[in-house]
Amino acid sequence: MTVDAAAPHKTFLRAARARETQRVAPFTGEGAYHGSTKPRSRPAPAPPVPRALPPEVQPRTLEAYAASGRREIASFAATFPNRFEVVRALPVPRQDEIRDDGVTFCWCPLDQAMREAGPLTKQVLEAMRARLRGGKRFVYIDSKIQYLAPGDVPVDSQHWHVDGSVVARDERARALGYPLLHDVRARLEALATSPQYLAYQSSERCATRFATAPVTLTMPELIPNFDGLDRAVRALGPASAAQPAGSIVRFDGGSLHRATAAQGAGWRLWVRCVETDREVVLNTSIIECYGTVFRTAAGA
Ligand SMILES: [Fe+2]
Repeated sequence: MTVDAAAPHKTFLRAARARETQRVAPFTGEGAYHGSTKPRSRPAPAPPVPRALPPEVQPRTLEAYAASGRREIASFAATFPNRFEVVRALPVPRQDEIRDDGVTFCWCPLDQAMREAGPLTKQVLEAMRARLRGGKRFVYIDSKIQYLAPGDVPVDSQHWHVDGSVVARDERARALGYPLLHDVRARLEALATSPQYLAYQSSERCATRFATAPVTLTMPELIPNFDGLDRAVRALGPASAAQPAGSIVRFDGGSLHRATAAQGAGWRLWVRCVETDREVVLNTSIIECYGTVFRTAAGA
């Protein structure tokens, strides 16, 4: 797709959807939300260290490296509490209700999303709004309406990961040899400051899988992507559960989860609500390709 830098960056998209026009791309495992290691065509200069970050996004571990000049990344015993709770079960919608709901969101403020949402998404947002924890400055909505064939994945990764990790993309990460680093230790040692999540999904054929009991493993305290964490979690094989169809679940930044490939063909609505102190202003128009599905070789 082309990006018009002068165009306003939309946080919602109203579109008619059909099985024939579903965007499909090859699955690569390089999901954009997971610290892609793909080389960029134009390496950007390291941005300066941002100032005055809210505690939620302060990379305290990385700050200590920068202060001491330390260059080797240490490991630690990481405990993921894996908070996961089904807070609401809504009726499982019909396929045509999902297909025809019309509007999807990308970092859209909740109030605006409530005004723009189609009937099905609006029900989900109302149920979510009743369960907000409060105490954060911003509430954003992401959503997707996707048609998945068997084997398709709703995002370009099936790695175990956490959402909203503490990420630094600045000269402190570059000093350790990486364009970005997730400060896992900072998140797990200050979980009280974590963003708070509610997520809905309509489908049992393509359910997000959540770890359901605490997991402790030894891992680097700063990581460039989730590859190693995924391998370690898979080796441990922790207790986990598929998100039930039509449910809203609550989790936080210490909750390991992963996408799974669709077991059958059909439409899927996914909605995520995040309460965060981090203001998000889109600097690229990503919503047009936000609903792409990713086709694995197994599903081809
Ligand atoms: Fe996620």
